[in-house]
Amino acid sequence: MTRLKLIAGNWKMNGLSASLGEAKALRDWLAGRPRGRTEAALFPPATLLSAMSVASGGVFATGGQDCHAAASGAFTGDLSAAMLKDAGAKYVLAGHSERRTLHGESSDIVHAKAEAALAAGLVAVVCVGETLAQRETGQADSFVSGQLLESLPVGATPENVVIAYEPVWAIGTGRVASTADIQSMHAALRASLRSRFGEAADGFRILYGGSVKPDNAADILALPDVDGALVGGASLKAADFIAIIAAAPGV
Ligand code: PGA
Repeated sequence: MTRLKLIAGNWKMNGLSASLGEAKALRDWLAGRPRGRTEAALFPPATLLSAMSVASGGVFATGGQDCHAAASGAFTGDLSAAMLKDAGAKYVLAGHSERRTLHGESSDIVHAKAEAALAAGLVAVVCVGETLAQRETGQADSFVSGQLLESLPVGATPENVVIAYEPVWAIGTGRVASTADIQSMHAALRASLRSRFGEAADGFRILYGGSVKPDNAADILALPDVDGALVGGASLKAADFIAIIAAAPGV
């Protein structure tokens, strides 16, 4: 099955309005190329979402980095999925490891947020990943598969959910998982999806994230069960992010 590759850039808490120049450079580069089998998306801080959605000219998608599980209400400082959609987002991350670790988000909370995303018409990018201790004690596969099945929203389909496997120890550290470990985890995740969705599992996109850079992207993106990348640091500069998109097979 051919799955449209997704190269997604997570800006985290980085970027002021001047950084929109990077988004425009990305737009101009993408606009000059034929549409291939790759889709690009940027996840800016919420303050830039609306302006970036306009600046994208529709050539790349935008997404929020988090949303609240409720549709509206007295939740000072939070954003609903509908607000992100209203600001032009197509996607929203659910359960990035920085949210799970720094904000105490359990898989139950991630599940509720992903459901809110679907209810608002967003595509949820459900993030999972093991710690170094879990990998070193041989628990990575079982932990990550369990995390995935607990976090997936009811009604998940390959159209409204994307999965991102990001080993916690590889995020922002410059340490990337080996291609053998990445492929083996992605295959394990697809097997878990098959247990719930049957043949439809083959349609889900599973992204890899964790220190993806221009110089390692081609090897990672060529793996059979890797359907794209979730890129942090290397998405902040258009030149680096473009080099990663260009490394995807079939661009
Ligand atoms: P990194 O971040 O590419 O800077 O390691 C990835 C992520 O957290 O999505």
